[in-house]
Amino acid sequence: MSTKSVNVAVIGAGVVGTAFLDQIIAMKSSINYNLIVVSETEHCLISKDYSPLALNAQWRKTLDASSAKALSMEEMLEYLKKSPIPAILVDNTSSAYISGYYTKFVEAGISIATPNKKAFSSDMTTWNTLFSNKPSNGLVYHEATVGAGLPIIGTLRDFLQTGDEVEKIEGIFSGTLSYIFNEFSTTKPNDIKFSDVVKVAKELGYTEPDPRDDLNGLDVARKVTIVARISGLNVESPTSFRVQSLIPKPLESIESSEQFLEKLPQYDNELTKLKEEAAAENKVLRFIGKVDVPTQTVSVGIEKYDYSHPFAALKGSDNVISIKTKRYTNPVVVQGAGAGAAVTAAGVLADTIKIAQRIAI
Ligand SMILES: NC(=O)c1ccc[n+]([C@@H]2O[C@H](COP(=O)([O-])OP(=O)(O)OC[C@H]3O[C@@H](n4cnc5c(N)ncnc54)[C@H](OP(=O)(O)O)[C@@H]3O)[C@@H](O)[C@H]2O)c1
Repeated sequence: MSTKSVNVAVIGAGVVGTAFLDQIIAMKSSINYNLIVVSETEHCLISKDYSPLALNAQWRKTLDASSAKALSMEEMLEYLKKSPIPAILVDNTSSAYISGYYTKFVEAGISIATPNKKAFSSDMTTWNTLFSNKPSNGLVYHEATVGAGLPIIGTLRDFLQTGDEVEKIEGIFSGTLSYIFNEFSTTKPNDIKFSDVVKVAKELGYTEPDPRDDLNGLDVARKVTIVARISGLNVESPTSFRVQSLIPKPLESIESSEQFLEKLPQYDNELTKLKEEAAAENKVLRFIGKVDVPTQTVSVGIEKYDYSHPFAALKGSDNVISIKTKRYTNPVVVQGAGAGAAVTAAGVLADTIKIAQRIAI
């Protein structure tokens, strides 16, 4: 029996992309994963004749030595359309420009594996096109858009395809906000200030360069939009439901993140009060995304949990997502690292493998 092959075009060689390339190059498999494109903005390797690029563990040196710039997405589309064997586009960027082309790729029969949330939390028309299941369309796998390598999307889809119905999803979807609230609001009362925890989180590299990009709740809202849509709700956008921002209003428009962090202590009182009220009820505060399917409600914000609740015992920056269904009346709980290079890349690679198992020839 001859070995099956797929062509793989990888865009993005940053935190996730680097780990992905290390993993796919080191992987032993019965399918040939032929890397035909490896690209970042300023450097691009492309195989003009679609033969596999000769890459090994030193791929970074080869990529850096290339003076070619990234193809435009129109050029990439035309290139992959002509691939002599089925092609997978692996988008390891957070680019809206790239994800804006997904529907064109899918309709051209090119499959996609990605941790980039943008397309899946944009408009419903894009979502419906990406998942229309037309036999001529490419496949779309995006496990790492919600919990990095954690089995959330695959698990939900398995439940639904086998006839189960999702009733409620509730969880801590952000590693950054998990860390911040696990430190700020503990089962043993403490007098730690919210602004101090945010500063430490930034110093530890847990936040985005501007922590407001974590504190505005939008990243959680995007993830919740995705799981809500999979569960059958027509959520128009990540801003079409209640999303609580942790950025004090007057600090929203401040220019630099340094000035923001300097002024944040002035607004500690409100969250301190909330924390003390929760402690008086033997509860902690956590930043939660919630989907309630029967009532069709979706929300993102601070919630209180009893000291005995699994969310109260969370440590570090783990994500935890609880899924209650018609069959699983006692919810399925998935917990673990929801970010990080190795686990996220493994989530994208697992998706690439699932696609290849279906399309390789
Ligand atoms: N990091 C995590 O733990 C994590 C967890 C879950 C999901 N994700 C998702 O994974 C994705 C990647 O995250 P990351 O942390 O790896 O980001 P990153 O370190 O900023 O890397 C982004 C990469 O994309 C490249 N890129 C951007 N636009 C491009 C274009 N038009 N053409 C070619 N290359 C382009 C960048 O190249 P240049 O530097 O040359 O511009 C860079 O190599 C994001 O969607 C993120 O939300 C990340």
